[in-house]
Amino acid sequence: MASDPANTAPAGIPRHLAVIMDGNGRWAERRRRPRMIGHRAGARAVNVCIDFCLERGIRALTLFAFSSENWARPEEEVGALMKLFLNALEREVEELHRRGVRIRFIGERARFSDAIRQRMDHAESVTAGNRRLHLNIAASYGGRWDIAQAARSLAEDVAAGRLAPADIDERLLGSRVALADLPPPDLFIRTGGDLRISNFLLWQLAYTELWFTELLWPELDATTLQVALDDYAGRQRRFGLTGAQVAGREPVAQDNENSA
Ligand code: FPP
Repeated sequence: MASDPANTAPAGIPRHLAVIMDGNGRWAERRRRPRMIGHRAGARAVNVCIDFCLERGIRALTLFAFSSENWARPEEEVGALMKLFLNALEREVEELHRRGVRIRFIGERARFSDAIRQRMDHAESVTAGNRRLHLNIAASYGGRWDIAQAARSLAEDVAAGRLAPADIDERLLGSRVALADLPPPDLFIRTGGDLRISNFLLWQLAYTELWFTELLWPELDATTLQVALDDYAGRQRRFGLTGAQVAGREPVAQDNENSA
């Protein structure tokens, strides 16, 4: 999709930002409030993040809203989160559409209620033509699930005789994981102080720059996001090459395996 604006962004700005929104529960607990109050505050921080992306010209934002593992949380918290998602879908979609945002959901959609699935389908179809910002919500999502579903889809093609096992390579598997039509995330941000990827976009994050903050998700503001962007702009991304090659002082050898 060379003509898709998701493939371009102002210099030094990530084209695609991926975020783990962690710390809602602790934010509420520190205030002696139920965890759900933290998730509600977290929903407001989602808007801060979307506004920031729109202002800075970031073309794709992928938010980890609910992991495959989050289903195992206490029933009361899962139920309240589902209500929050449903309300957010009912409240925000029209405004996001007006602002040129394309909404997509990645993850195991079959695990959600009919009401939520219908709202997800509606949000996706209403905003399908928008290109100013690709907003991807990872919900009931796991990176291992994503790779497994890509492998299953290739296996189905092999079983049906459409594909030979020898044709399976990184490019082909990469074309079957979620968000294959977008550039992979340039920058990953995790709030909440933990230094891990927690089964987020495992395939897609292979060469992503990682940035962590102690700040809890509901405390997120544009200043913090700008600090992350400034840090990103100062990094040299080498993708396995030497610094001299990246700077253009030394040639890049052809990789015979992949150059055909
Ligand atoms: C992690 O914090 C956060 C979640 C599991 C839920 C994320 C949901 C939101 C930000 C709100 C709504 C989102 C959308 C897209 C409308 P945690 O509960 O693990 O926090 P803790 O580590 O402090 O316990």
